Amino acid sequence: MSKSPVRVAVTGAAGQIGYALLFRIASGEMLGKDQPVILQLLEIPDEKAQNALKGVIMELDDCAFPLVAGIVATGDPEVAFKDADYALLVGARPRGPGMERKDLLSANAQIFTAQGKALNKVASRNVKVLVVGNPANTNAYIAMKSAPDLPAKNFTAMLRLDHNRAASQIAAKTGKPVDAIEKLAVWGNHSPTMYADYRFATIGGQSVKQLINDDVWNKDTFLPTVGKRGAAIIAARGLSSAASAANAAIDHMRDWALGTNGKWVTMGVPSNGEYGIPKDVIFGYPVTTENGEYKIVEGLDIDSFSQERIDFTLKELLEEQDGVKHLL
Ligand code: NAD
Ligand code: LMR
Repeated sequence: MSKSPVRVAVTGAAGQIGYALLFRIASGEMLGKDQPVILQLLEIPDEKAQNALKGVIMELDDCAFPLVAGIVATGDPEVAFKDADYALLVGARPRGPGMERKDLLSANAQIFTAQGKALNKVASRNVKVLVVGNPANTNAYIAMKSAPDLPAKNFTAMLRLDHNRAASQIAAKTGKPVDAIEKLAVWGNHSPTMYADYRFATIGGQSVKQLINDDVWNKDTFLPTVGKRGAAIIAARGLSSAASAANAAIDHMRDWALGTNGKWVTMGVPSNGEYGIPKDVIFGYPVTTENGEYKIVEGLDIDSFSQERIDFTLKELLEEQDGVKHLL
């Protein structure tokens, strides 16, 4: 094994997403089958959570993963984030039935000020941060603003689950394989206001918009199904999505680290004014990635329906930001 290990911090490591995520990171699905990892796992200091984390680590040990070069378990963010190259911020309260993700802001926002500060102090200056804990965009914004010595572009939020959900709905509607879909985008907030946009998408070179040719389906079925999928899963399972969320986190980090070969994916990233979004708002954009950097796809035509949807999701993000300004 020639590569030296990288440090991967995961918070909420004993939670349901953590349980679906860690084994896949450890097996090399996130950073490659030739990349050893040191797992730095954070849970709340409470005895029950730390015990549960011990159990997860026993299971990781029992998998005898060749790529695992070490495991650290801790209740202290500064230990978990020490020299971290990747940080997956999952630990946060999930919503229950009847709640919106933004209802979690008051419960979860403080977690991300504390963790942003800890990242600022001890993480690698190149750390790639993915915020999964909800409301993911605004939590990523809080962490970014709490880490002024790290580049803002290192902070991202997870919209990949929405992207994957949209792709799966399009594959079912068109009867085409999901991995043949190119140039799909999800704009905005990880919330029901998100705008999943297949106007530019193609399958085998054919336009998805033309293949579907049904604007009523887009407006009345596709957008609400993708936008409310999280709630539908909570209603069915009694718990929020976990395996599909972990899968999306793996997809997001893998593509960021290893590149997309020109393929578009959706990431929530700080705006630099692209498409009229105010600077630093963490917004879902179509991106391509190369050499460990993402690049927003620019120059796309925004028609009046799309502009309305983008304005709507931006308005919600600005309201969420306003609600946390006292923390920053
Ligand atoms: P969970 O309750 O099963 O696990 C969360 C874990 O985080 C718990 O073990 C808890 O002890 C831990 N935790 C809480 N505060 C912490 C802190 N300050 N530091 C470290 N650990 C902490 O929840 P889950 O189902 O794993 O979901 C986690 C979060 O991910 C929720 O906020 C959920 O809404 C969100 N989520 C986001 C997406 C997305 O697409 N962005 C998808 C699914 C879930
Ligand atoms: C999801 O989209 O499944 C997650 O954000 C969990 C939730 O609260 O919906």
